[in-house]
Amino acid sequence: MSTSEPYRTLTTRGWIFFTTLWILAAASLYNGAALARCQTAEAIPAAAQISAGTPQNDGLWWKHAVIYEIYPRSFQDSDGDGIGDLNGITERLDYLQSLGVDAVWLSPIYPSPQVDFGYDISDYENVDPQYGTLADFDKLVAEAKKRDIRIIMDMVMNHTSDKHKWFVESEASKSNPKRDWYVWRDAKGVGANGKPLPPNNWISVFGGSAWEYDPKTKQFYYHKFYKQQPDLNWRNPAVENAMFDSVRFWLDRNVAGFRLDAIPTLFEDPQMRDEPATGGINAQSDPNLSDIYTNNLPQVHDVMRRLRAVTDKYPGNRVLIGETYLPNVQDLDKWYGGAQRNELQLPMDMQVGFTNKLDASLFRQRINDAQTQINGNQPLFVFDNHDNVRSWDRYGDGVHDEAIARLLATVLFTSRAATLMYYGEELGMVTTTPTRKQDVKDPIGITGWPKEKGRDGERTPMQWDDSKNAGFSTAATTWLPVAENYHTTNVKTEEGNPDSLLNWHKKLIAMRRSDTTLRDGKQVMLDETNPFVLSYARESVGENPAIIVALNFTGEPRTITLDPSTAGITGKTVSTLITDAPSLRQVSSLQHMTLPPYASWVGSVK
Ligand code: GLC
Repeated sequence: MSTSEPYRTLTTRGWIFFTTLWILAAASLYNGAALARCQTAEAIPAAAQISAGTPQNDGLWWKHAVIYEIYPRSFQDSDGDGIGDLNGITERLDYLQSLGVDAVWLSPIYPSPQVDFGYDISDYENVDPQYGTLADFDKLVAEAKKRDIRIIMDMVMNHTSDKHKWFVESEASKSNPKRDWYVWRDAKGVGANGKPLPPNNWISVFGGSAWEYDPKTKQFYYHKFYKQQPDLNWRNPAVENAMFDSVRFWLDRNVAGFRLDAIPTLFEDPQMRDEPATGGINAQSDPNLSDIYTNNLPQVHDVMRRLRAVTDKYPGNRVLIGETYLPNVQDLDKWYGGAQRNELQLPMDMQVGFTNKLDASLFRQRINDAQTQINGNQPLFVFDNHDNVRSWDRYGDGVHDEAIARLLATVLFTSRAATLMYYGEELGMVTTTPTRKQDVKDPIGITGWPKEKGRDGERTPMQWDDSKNAGFSTAATTWLPVAENYHTTNVKTEEGNPDSLLNWHKKLIAMRRSDTTLRDGKQVMLDETNPFVLSYARESVGENPAIIVALNFTGEPRTITLDPSTAGITGKTVSTLITDAPSLRQVSSLQHMTLPPYASWVGSVK
């Protein structure tokens, strides 16, 4: 992996990360030198030592949910073909329950040619045979329910596969009734080489023109992503009707909601104006454009309100989660429907988790924004997903990676937010980027090589134990190779070590589930001008005392004095709830506390 790795995430996938200013991250990369694990010294309150499966699912369950993203190809293979499947996930539900997961977001499992590994759907109302059957899906939902775990589907509304019957019809002729279900346009003219010119300068997120010419009907169709993913025309009401029918199909099968893929890109400028160039080229060698005519157009909010009306008709508080990479918190607020709260319950806040640099001031500002600027809506924080270099590598310095992973987990689980995590994050799974072009599976890694090596690195198989293929599969080879660190970084080993990163996650999640202060207490920043240490209070709720969190964002020891009275907290008795610093196990005062490098400390004040 090169040192430009975090940067590559943000150049080729620039549509996602709209501003490059944040990303000049000092994140050094994992160098394989795993440090001896820090000793944890947590004294978990008795109330937190509940079974992680204790239901908290009454009312608005999603508000405090721990949502766990599973990339189905990579979680558990049950039939020995080297690819994960639904029955594999069902086999591993006990693990998810022990972790304290409330819901699983399944990356797409629908029938698909798998050009974009499922994000190119050819049938919205079935399961791809390589993952199982609808009966396997129903069994997964039922078995998960027994463990108080909900299943959330990934819904890809912006585009279908080019093999979907709608597109097959649409491309058949200009007069086909489905022609207008996709975005077809005439050529702008003929180029010097005699070839038709695309209607405008729009580029695909995945490289090259966003327009593909169909010689048969002599028009171009628009595709924001791969050419095998033609964009649907959301200005045609028939598209919405058909897609909402598919939404109902899954709601009827008792899914708990949807993660809406690439949802800000539903609409395009009807005038098809060129997008302004912002200078330079991206990793796919295309000019950088400001995507003002293809991303985040206002009409998408009308669709979101209508979609919300559909899901609200179902019992059980079904949830809508958005893949919403947005430029600022004001835009994020719009995705909730602002004070109306009539769009998504949980648009993802990418501002906190993808700062890509350990800057306490930036984290403070972004967390504060999420507490104060979104009309009291519930934030959803996320550090990892299947599209980005893992946070371990984006934030790690190669020396303190595990302490940094604990610190990020502490931010995630002690903030007033719903939480999204990605399989393996709890173990310290690393990004394993292919080193040879011929090994790459993700097409953007093939077309972009060597500048863009694709997303295989963050999609390697789940590491269950130190047996063959890390317990993921019995196949001779797996679809992506298992990361080399699986002998030590795996569920079985970490379950047996009370100080492991996995047990750190379990303890934080258990605390969240049992402690009303951690779930609902107002989050108020302390020591607000400190550029090195992020400290905040969670105001007391119910019988549970106030909680204080202090996180050293630097590689130097830092001494802090906290005054929680600025957050209206008057108690004087301080005790440690969880820390990875042995020297902080017995803290009894918030005066002159010295935090070792990257230390995390969570305590209570009564
Ligand atoms: C989203 C998905 C990504 C996919 C793209 C196109 O960003 O997370 O994996 O390639 O949409 O569907």
